[in-house]
Amino acid sequence: MQTKNLVLIGYMGSGKTTVGRLLSRKTGLVFEDLDALLEERAGMSIPEIFEKETEKGFRDRETALIADLVREGAAGRVYSCGGGAPCREENRRLLKEMGRVIWLDVRAETVIERLAGDRNRPLLQRPDREEAISRMLADRRRAYESAADLVVCADGKTPGAIAREIVKSLEDNHYEDTGH
Ligand code: S3P
Repeated sequence: MQTKNLVLIGYMGSGKTTVGRLLSRKTGLVFEDLDALLEERAGMSIPEIFEKETEKGFRDRETALIADLVREGAAGRVYSCGGGAPCREENRRLLKEMGRVIWLDVRAETVIERLAGDRNRPLLQRPDREEAISRMLADRRRAYESAADLVVCADGKTPGAIAREIVKSLEDNHYEDTGH
């Protein structure tokens, strides 16, 4: 399998980080979590950035980071993106430039169950969390769909099964980096 990078997108709790680490082991590509990279560059945690700079500040940092990585021409990586990254059109274009974009598609029920006790995601710290997740997921579907080269249903599957499915799909499609 030849590819510049693999880019995992999907809603919070879809398993991007766990699947990304497994994919890294299977493919030999280096795993990189964009949220962790963003926090490192900012010298602040994501909740701190949201508090000090609002969501807009976080989104601008996210776009700047993705643009930097594309400009630097990083290759040989598996990137796990923050769940909201594909929502900006500019980001979708940049993510496609980064590499093969894979969407881990999950149902709201799966996310609600997985993130029940989560305290690290500012967008979910609200009393109507369950409704917010369902609404946000529905609002974002189109953005995920248009960013994705490959869609994998992540409901009811282990991270290992998802990683295997991705590798098989990429091999079956004989994907080659066209250097686009
Ligand atoms: C966000 C998802 C988070 C993080 C931030 C915003 C979102 O990343 O980027 O809290 O808007 O969906 P994960 O998808 O890794 O949780």
